[in-house]
Amino acid sequence: MIIRKFETRRLIIRRPNEGDLQDFLSYRNDPESLEMQSLEAMEEDKASKLLSRQASVPAGAENAWVMFAVELKVQRKMIGEVGVFLSNRAARLGNLGWSINRDFRGNGYASEAAALLLKYAFEEERLRRVTATCLAQNEPSYRLMEGLGMRRECVMLKSRQQHGEWLDEYSYALLREEWVHRTQPAPQP
Ligand SMILES: CC(C)(COP(=O)(O)OP(=O)(O)OC[C@H]1O[C@@H](n2cnc3c(N)ncnc32)[C@H](O)[C@@H]1OP(=O)(O)O)[C@@H](O)C(=O)NCCC(=O)NCCS
Repeated sequence: MIIRKFETRRLIIRRPNEGDLQDFLSYRNDPESLEMQSLEAMEEDKASKLLSRQASVPAGAENAWVMFAVELKVQRKMIGEVGVFLSNRAARLGNLGWSINRDFRGNGYASEAAALLLKYAFEEERLRRVTATCLAQNEPSYRLMEGLGMRRECVMLKSRQQHGEWLDEYSYALLREEWVHRTQPAPQP
């Protein structure tokens, strides 16, 4: 089964497709985003293949990155992505990621999309534990994790090298039971 699309108040969270190519490249190859994620810029043909591959990742995939396009309803435009790397089914682990076009940051779009991603991860993929990591200097990303209720589990000192310098990273996690506790309404007295 192909993963279906979802809606939030302002966003459509859906599978990407090749028509998203230019929108994808504009945030994917943004220099600051590349730095924060320790990525190299992606060529257009590689990006096009990635989008067409992602369009058909099935629900329940194992050892796979499941990427969702974040589309702004009012502009009908892909403004970024959220995604989860799914482990094998036995472990039921997930690792989250996100990126939003710089022109659209600071409006709560990543938080809105990532909350939906968590729901998908726990309810549809039945994950047991989700994690996310970021550079310690990436405040928007770790504040996003904290807003989702994730706990900072450790600081990984000098764990990522950038321009010859060793940088610290934060590692966050959320267990299924913590998510259930957080999202269930409190019992009525
Ligand atoms: C991380 C990222 C996805 C956040 O996207 P966004 O749509 O701006 O996020 P939101 O508006 O939902 O804000 C998330 C939190 O970050 C805070 N925030 C947003 N911009 C900020 C900034 N420039 N400085 C500090 N905090 C900031 C928000 O206030 C919010 O925290 P709060 O809920 O405690 O108020 C975006 O900055 C990005 O794409 N960065 C480059 C790629 C990247 O670093 N990806 C993550 C790699 S681990």
